[in-house]
Amino acid sequence: MAEAIKKLTIFDLQEKVDRGEKIFQVTAVDYPTGQLVDRAGIDCILIGDSLGMTALGYSGTVPVTMDEMIHHAKAISRAVKRALLVGDLPLGAYHASTADAVNSAMCMVKEGGADVVKLEGGEDFAPMAEAVVRAGIPVMAHIGLTPQLVSKIGGYKVQGKSAETGVQLLKDALAMERAGCFAIVLEAIPDRVAQVITERLKIPTIGIGAGPNCDGQNLVLHDMVGLFDRFTPKFVKRYANCWEIIGKALADFQDDVRKGTFPSAEHSFTMKDDEYQALLQQIPKK
Ligand code: KIV
Repeated sequence: MAEAIKKLTIFDLQEKVDRGEKIFQVTAVDYPTGQLVDRAGIDCILIGDSLGMTALGYSGTVPVTMDEMIHHAKAISRAVKRALLVGDLPLGAYHASTADAVNSAMCMVKEGGADVVKLEGGEDFAPMAEAVVRAGIPVMAHIGLTPQLVSKIGGYKVQGKSAETGVQLLKDALAMERAGCFAIVLEAIPDRVAQVITERLKIPTIGIGAGPNCDGQNLVLHDMVGLFDRFTPKFVKRYANCWEIIGKALADFQDDVRKGTFPSAEHSFTMKDDEYQALLQQIPKK
């Protein structure tokens, strides 16, 4: 009998860090990418609102709605058996009040099938994070480059490059830890600032463009396998070029059809001779 797959929890992440092991987190967008990432043994699968760009074609994450997030979350949660499933709350889902935050988090877990939620923001959003944690849903924080607040931070820029802004990032991280968050994403901040934050927090830090000293690393699947062609952030390492692989498959398909080498007998269905003859008897001659 196949061994039952053990689902990872927030406690497994902390235990990994305590053992000196790194946490792996990857953003998936749908059923097949959820399956791929889960079966590869990644610890946390992020239903990230970056799917607005990689799967929906928006120019950023700002327009992404809760309904769109839930639609994708449902597909990913049907695929994932082992990884901790982290559901991103999009812009507008938790910004107005703690009640909005709790309702959106509940929806992400009950309807979307996520195990926990993630929300962007530091000190200003600690009350929202705390309310969700008190309601019983674990929260992953996200500070540094917070794409939902791109207008406020003046573009997709590295954050915390000065002493003053670096100190503010530490304050933000500590506020989110005090709010009860179980982990925190550090996006696009100098490696030294990420190290300072990682050394001062008890909860795990998961970096994306935050250098090697975080407790874990996050990449967006579409970026790392070359399935997103609009731009590649400096912090992305490309491990495969799926755009090229899929493009070649599509060109080969057209070639085969033109040459008549597809479909071959291998990809066709047969009919017995007597049935075929009977069919010809029953239809008008050409
Ligand atoms: O939406 C996303 O994929 C994210 C990661 C970049 C952390 O928030």
